[in-house]
Amino acid sequence: MSKIRAAVTSIGGYVPEFRLTNKVLETMVDTNDEWITSRTGIKERRILKGEGLGTSDMAVEAVNELLRKRGITADDIDLLICCTVTPDLVFPATANIITDKIGASNAFGFDLMAACSGFLYGVTTASKYIESGACKKVVVVGADKMSSIIDYEDRQTCIIFGDGGGAVLLEPTEEDFGVMDTIMKSDGSGRVHLHQKAGGSVKPASHATVDAKEHFVYQEGQAVFKFAVTNMADVSAEIMERNNLKSEDIRFLVPHQANKRIIDATARRMGVGEDKVMLNIEKYGNTTSGTIPLCLWEWEKQLKKGDNLILSAFGGGFTWGSIYLKWAYDSK
Ligand code: UT7
Repeated sequence: MSKIRAAVTSIGGYVPEFRLTNKVLETMVDTNDEWITSRTGIKERRILKGEGLGTSDMAVEAVNELLRKRGITADDIDLLICCTVTPDLVFPATANIITDKIGASNAFGFDLMAACSGFLYGVTTASKYIESGACKKVVVVGADKMSSIIDYEDRQTCIIFGDGGGAVLLEPTEEDFGVMDTIMKSDGSGRVHLHQKAGGSVKPASHATVDAKEHFVYQEGQAVFKFAVTNMADVSAEIMERNNLKSEDIRFLVPHQANKRIIDATARRMGVGEDKVMLNIEKYGNTTSGTIPLCLWEWEKQLKKGDNLILSAFGGGFTWGSIYLKWAYDSK
């Protein structure tokens, strides 16, 4: 019997309507469009407005689109994994809230936190449920409402992050398509450079933590940049080497959208030109778990069965990794 692989068979995405432009940020903090554009590649990011709306609401939009396109119902889903650092609530898992909202009565679900590498960790985990035969239809959501943990008085972080998310459906195939290989890595000592100081069990929320702005993202940008630029390029080169892929074999690099300079360095290391790099950081900024599925969503129509994609990310934790994904269908 041939090996069962996990193939992406449908995709959905969602970004909120409200655009926060560099020009508007100029009126909020001491920054300017030229600095943000040249240092990050970002022009604007989307913000989820509206009382009572959270990560699950964006995920629901993405998952419903994916179901519609595949012609199945929520009841067909066996497992839903939600990758996020901005869950609706500390508990229960946002995956449970999503499955309830879409009416996926036969699914179990859980959240997976690996910051900007969350979606890659999620797809890797989902592929094991498919390859083992345990599940037939697994949805992986990558979504974040970063605006809920960003200090809009901190120019080092507020210019980077945005809200949005996407979702993919994974199904078994005996053909040679789908998740071909994955390399996932982590180094917890990197947590000092990128984290949220309070709100966890070590430092629960208090008046003092709120006053000290400890419920926002804390990032030492330069330190994170240094690790990101090396590790994302290295792991992308490693997965190519391990699978005997030359740059001409790659249809697209699908990179986490944290900083255009990190993406450029990764592409250079892989030997692929700009025409082979999915890039939408200009429009959405860094949506954490959302960046990679949002790229796949936007580029879906250009993808053909058999296209070799390299998905790569680096993020808080530190976490990083690469997936070699062979696209499994021609998009209509
Ligand atoms: O997705 C999760 C993983 N995260 C990442 O991968 C992010 C990695 N880090 C980065 O992308 C970059 O480090 C940043 C975009 C966060 C910062 O860019 P940078 O080129 O590393 O800037 P820097 O922190 O070295 O600051 C350079 C200068 C400083 O001024 P001086 O000391 O040279 O006078 C900063 O104070 O730019 C200043 N600066 C700003 N100026 C205008 C910092 N932030 C801003 C700003 N606008 N928003």
